[in-house]
This record gives sequence, structure tokens and C-alpha cells, in this order.
Amino acid sequence: MASPKDWPEPVIRVQSLSNMAAIPNRYIKPPRDRPAINSIQNDVNIPLIDLQGVFGDDSALTATILSQVSEACLDWGFFQVVNHGVSPLLMDHAREVWRRFFHLPMEEKQVYANSPKTYEGYGSRLGTQEGAILDWSDYYFLHYLPMLLKDHEKWPALPSSLREVIEEYGAEVVKLCGVLMKVLSMNLGLGEEYLQKAFGGEDIGACLRVNFYPKCPQPDLTLGLSSHSDPGGMTLLLPDDQVPGLQVRKSTTWVTVKPVPHAFIVNIGDQIQVLSNAIYKSVEHRVIVNSAEERVSLAFFYNPKSDLQIEPAKELVKPDKPALYKAMTFDEYRLFIRTRGPRGKSQVESSLIKSPKSKLITAAPPATAKCCTV
Ligand code: OGA
Ligand code: NI
Repeated sequence: MASPKDWPEPVIRVQSLSNMAAIPNRYIKPPRDRPAINSIQNDVNIPLIDLQGVFGDDSALTATILSQVSEACLDWGFFQVVNHGVSPLLMDHAREVWRRFFHLPMEEKQVYANSPKTYEGYGSRLGTQEGAILDWSDYYFLHYLPMLLKDHEKWPALPSSLREVIEEYGAEVVKLCGVLMKVLSMNLGLGEEYLQKAFGGEDIGACLRVNFYPKCPQPDLTLGLSSHSDPGGMTLLLPDDQVPGLQVRKSTTWVTVKPVPHAFIVNIGDQIQVLSNAIYKSVEHRVIVNSAEERVSLAFFYNPKSDLQIEPAKELVKPDKPALYKAMTFDEYRLFIRTRGPRGKSQVESSLIKSPKSKLITAAPPATAKCCTV
């Protein structure tokens, strides 16, 4: 699978469609994928965890927080964290500077139009399949790490504070990711540095996708982002503080996440599912849109160094629990989603990445949706 050089069709900015009376056919999902088809639970929320003092002097407090994270990873694959160390003011600045970017005149944004070769820049689709049904969102994708891939010239020059704010935001979020990697690693019974080392130590990858979901005249017919699991290691999402939209799959229902002010939404990606030999699973999620308000979210992806082989930790492979996945680099892995677009969990459950031995013990669970994002 080679990375395609260009989009198969002319790119249309979803933002330019938001004042139409009806949405174009290209955005109309088949009935089974529309927001209302599965039951939506509004009375539950993903776990909320206070990280204050997680690695402080109080070992009882550390144990309590670790067990809360453990339970959330096992039950949900998703949780919110507060008192996480990232400055609330910086979070607000980061979101608002991106909102201002999306409100700039189209010519300013088009300078950064992206291609499917690297996805870096201003984009309006994931996947390169001709005739695909598209999602109701535009986005901006950039590399934060490794240093070799970070290029400020590929980040918007306007608003003028953007580069500085995002540089600082990235540094703080990377620190928080380091803390969470330690927690996950300890909870898996691996040494506290195991996961970070498996990701390449200092050489990890990190990228940011800023999602812009314009108002939609017919929100019941489409999705802002189709069901997918995140292909990378771990995602820290800064959601819109005013507008809900993210839904997380909980068995056969969708749970709408109610964002807590200044919390990050953390979720497990496919690479941690592989490294943990499926003790932790990446969970499907999607985004719904609405006719009243636009929505902005910042998804920060913390990923393994892209040319390292990722495979189940030897410590988690036992005679009765064979390795469920073959070794694969993240570069190889993400080509799938970059070509096919978001498709539930079909990638991590596909025979392409399953180890032949795994089939003796467990049949691959049926892909819940027909179906992964950058
Ligand atoms: C993503 C994602 C959720 C949101 O970018 O991978 O799942 O709320 N975003 O925008
Ligand atoms: Ni996602």
C-alpha cells in the first residue's frame, strides 16, 4: 500500500457548506451509521479522575489514583483527567487560537492545504477512496515530535501567536503523556518505564489534529467524524468547552461525553492495545454535529517512534495467552487509515495484524462497525 500523492476528487471545505439549506449527498451516511440509530445514553459519563499528587509523597494516594486509571482503562478505554498539570489558561488559549485560525478568510487557510502524502496542513477528508462518503469536518494536522518532523513553516503563521502557544501547549501535554504512560505501564505490571521505552524513549512521535466541526443544517443524516479507534498510542483530547459532540461506544450504545471544564479526555489507541496484548483495548468513538453551534477540538496523539516494531510485551505473553498481534511499525500500521479513512476497529481486528497463533485461542471479535484517523 503506497501512500497516494493526491486526493481523488476536488477538496471541498465543509465550512463553506454550513449555510446551505440541505447537506450534499456526499455527506449523507447510510441509515445504520446515522447518529440516532443506536441508543444514546445521556445519563452516564466516562470516569473522571483527579491526578493531583499521583507521583507525590503519599503512596496511598498514588495507589488509589492508579487503581482508578486501571479500572477506567479496563471498563471504558476512555477517561477524563483534572489537576493534570497543564495550565488551564494555556488550554483555553490553544483552543481559541485555533478557533481564530478557522475563522480566517479561506485564502489564508488554503496556503496550508494538505495532501494525503503526509496529511500535514489544512484538510477536509481522511482516506483517499474515490466516491467515499465524507465526514462533516475540516481539520489541521501537524507534527510536534520528533524534532526532525516538526516544521514551524508548516504550522499556520496566523493568528500571530499560534506557533508560540502551540509550542508551549505541546511541551506541557507531552509531559502529561509521560506521566500517564508511567501509570499505564505500572498498572500492566510492567516496569514503570516499559511503555515509554517501547515507544522509543525520547524519540516518540507526537502530532496534533485540530478538528473543526461547522454547524450542520441536517445533523441527523451525518457525522462530524465517523466511528474509529485512534491508531496511535494514546490520545489527549481537549474538547470544546461549550459544545458536546464526542460519543464513546459502550457495548451496543453510544455515550455522549460531557466535558468537564479544563479536563483532558484520555483514550487508549491501537498501539497500546497491541503492546498490552489486548489487556487494554482501544475503543471506538465518533463525533456528532448540530445545527446551532460549531465545535473545535484538539486531539494530541502520542505515538511510538514510527519505525520501531511494536508487538505484545513478552511479559504479557503466556502459554494460555499467546501473542495476539504480529510485530509491525507504526508507519506501516497507519497507512491503512490514511488510505481507507475511519472504519471502526476493523484495522486492529484485521487478519493483517493478528498473529496466526492468536486464532487458536480466540476468534477475532466481529468488527462492530464495518469497520481507524491520522
Ligand atoms: C480524533 C477524535 C474527537 C473529537 O480526532 O481522533 O476522535 O471530539 N476527535 O473531536
Ligand atoms: Ni479519535
